[in-house]
Amino acid sequence: MNELLSDIDRQGWSVVPGFLENDDAARLVRECGQAWENGEFRRAGVGRGENLTIREDIRRDEVMWLQPDDLSVEQQAYLERLESLRLELNRRFYLGLFEFEGHFAIYPEGAFYKAHLDRHAGTQDRIVTAILYLNPDWQPGDGGELKLWTSPGDKEGDFVLIEPRMGTLVCFLAGDFWHEVQPAMKTRMSITGWFRQR
Ligand code: OGA
Ligand code: MN
Repeated sequence: MNELLSDIDRQGWSVVPGFLENDDAARLVRECGQAWENGEFRRAGVGRGENLTIREDIRRDEVMWLQPDDLSVEQQAYLERLESLRLELNRRFYLGLFEFEGHFAIYPEGAFYKAHLDRHAGTQDRIVTAILYLNPDWQPGDGGELKLWTSPGDKEGDFVLIEPRMGTLVCFLAGDFWHEVQPAMKTRMSITGWFRQR
């Protein structure tokens, strides 16, 4: 947690391998796979509210939102970790984050998400993005790396490529960092979400 906070302080983003222990992450993997088989995922859209549209040229993942009043034990355990993180972020950076909204995401083979920022145009509510990867056997060649450009506001120049390995957490300032998901060569799972301000 301390390293994550000092990364955010210094550069606005952080990658924490092993944020979740293997057993806990593996339970979320199973749950995600089961929900997928039960047909509980929906095509992800672009935009918000009335402007929400399906754009296959921009993103091809499918999502299932976490329901705050209907969480599994595994989901609760992860959200408790994020709750400690939320409090620390507020304590250190006075961000006034008051809640987390998140969803499971599945990128079927060939799916991607083109370069974007996570803050919707004209809104200020998504302040910090947190992504937990759920791919136990991820190998180079499986694709689906997260490409994160490391200069705030820039969609060019230096970037990091983050491997979506099970248990790795990525965190960044949602309005500052352009990022994209490279095409997945194998099914790719994660929980993506945002700490929000009012
Ligand atoms: C998103 C997103 C990145 C990832 O859902 O907004 O950028 O690595 N996801 O899954
Ligand atoms: Mn994003």
